[in-house]
Amino acid sequence: MIAFQDAQVQVNQIEINPFHQREADLENATARGNALLEAWAPFAEGKNGIFTNPILTEIGVKYGKSAAQVILRWNFERGIVSLAKSVKKERMAQNIDIFDFELTTDDKAKIASLESSTSQFFDHDDPASVDRFVTFVKTRNI
Ligand SMILES: NC(=O)c1ccc[n+]([C@@H]2O[C@H](COP(=O)([O-])OP(=O)(O)OC[C@H]3O[C@@H](n4cnc5c(N)ncnc54)[C@H](OP(=O)(O)O)[C@@H]3O)[C@@H](O)[C@H]2O)c1
Repeated sequence: MIAFQDAQVQVNQIEINPFHQREADLENATARGNALLEAWAPFAEGKNGIFTNPILTEIGVKYGKSAAQVILRWNFERGIVSLAKSVKKERMAQNIDIFDFELTTDDKAKIASLESSTSQFFDHDDPASVDRFVTFVKTRNI
């Protein structure tokens, strides 16, 4: 529930990836019965060598899956919707093929160790970022 209106937010789309895991936001959303979290850029747009990250690839090898699939499964198991993007048909197929394996507690602990608690893109609390967003919205008549 938003404090000053009756509308119920259904989906809250925020940056979530193995380097910026947003566990506190997830706990908060769950505790308050708030909106479902949706991960934008769940692969961090490929930054920091995410697709060849040794922890993610080693977990994937155990299940015959790629690092990308491990990330999507990890989000799925946390109850988070992944907004993953690919222009390649085979990768689209790969990215939906995550329902035949399950991560162990040990896998999840290893993924947790990748947390840097830092946006991979920009600081959302920086006034300059806010200015950029405002300009973006204004110039597009959103
Ligand atoms: N709300 C916001 O502020 C916000 C901000 C950023 C993004 N988004 C949205 O989030 C969605 C996804 O974001 P994004 O495209 O920026 O980042 P992303 O999904 O994290 O990463 C996309 C990159 O991953 C590659 N990729 C996809 N699947 C792969 C796989 N299985 N193996 C290897 N590489 C793979 C893609 O390459 P190919 O395409 O060549 O496969 C592309 O380079 C988009 O719809 C975007 O609009 C929202």
